[in-house]
Amino acid sequence: MSKATALACSNIAFVKYWGKRDEALRLPLNSSVSMALSQATTRTTVAFESRLCQDEVAIDGCAAPALVRLRVVRHLDRIRQISGVAQRARVASFNGFPPDAGLASSASGFAALTLAGTRAAGLELSAKELSCLARLGSGSAARSIPGGFSEWHAGSEHESSWGEQIAPPDHWPGLRDIVAVVAGEPKPAGSTQGMALAQSSPHFETRLSLVPGRLLRVRQAVLDRDLTSLGEVSEEEAIELHLIAMSSRPPIFYWRPETVAFIHRVLAWRSEGLKVYFTMDAGPNVHMLCQEESAGSIVAALEGMAEVQQIIVNAPGPAARLCSGHLF
Ligand code: PMV
Repeated sequence: MSKATALACSNIAFVKYWGKRDEALRLPLNSSVSMALSQATTRTTVAFESRLCQDEVAIDGCAAPALVRLRVVRHLDRIRQISGVAQRARVASFNGFPPDAGLASSASGFAALTLAGTRAAGLELSAKELSCLARLGSGSAARSIPGGFSEWHAGSEHESSWGEQIAPPDHWPGLRDIVAVVAGEPKPAGSTQGMALAQSSPHFETRLSLVPGRLLRVRQAVLDRDLTSLGEVSEEEAIELHLIAMSSRPPIFYWRPETVAFIHRVLAWRSEGLKVYFTMDAGPNVHMLCQEESAGSIVAALEGMAEVQQIIVNAPGPAARLCSGHLF
């Protein structure tokens, strides 16, 4: 029996991935850039055991629901295929953040599963190979393997579509991503479903034509630690991700009334001189980008808002890594 445990951070995209050119290989239509989230981690232990007749998958202490289990089993099949290991696996995974917080647990989850699973199967893959493999489980997981500030190169085939670190977490240790959880209700559509509809939006091609310029601006903003430029691109991208979703046929509305109220709040804070910008994933919750010195006053204000159910303050997080402390 061989066992390995890995820890990986989720991430928030500044330039988003929303649309695939190849569904099976999860090749995106555009490159994307993100920051790993220090407080949104998944720890996963994988062991291949000859006594097992089928894969056993537990998430946060419970047997995984059928569809989630199927996605994990497919990923284990990929690992079995490259390693030649035939045994079934036992998998236990714990998210260090609430499942309803609107943070992408599939990014941290598939990054941790890829690293722990390949190591348990006796493989020692490069960071690039791990990122390509993680991408097959969940696209955004490709960026959680390198961690820090990373770019997922769209690529044109399996081997060229991977996440690469632009800068390590300590390049900009004072950047904060504060998540205000405004609604814990299930999303109207998962990202796979949303992306499948993205190209039906009449605005899709326009956004795609704007992405190369935004990638240049975001890379430079990260290198220069320029919050104004990073925030401007992140807001443009968040708005357009939702514009595409709302104008897809049929439309998907991830925003809730609280989301819009929150955007107004961020704009008001900014006009009062507080340097803070918003971004969002495919969900109702708002992420706020700011510097460490502004985080305290933002958190204090959020604590006084009835619609805010939970606050998570993230710094730039590290790459996925192997760790001790097996879960079984
Ligand atoms: O990798 P997925 O299927 O969880 O999709 C992620 C999609 C967004 O979070 C909305 C954007 C992104 O680039 O992370």
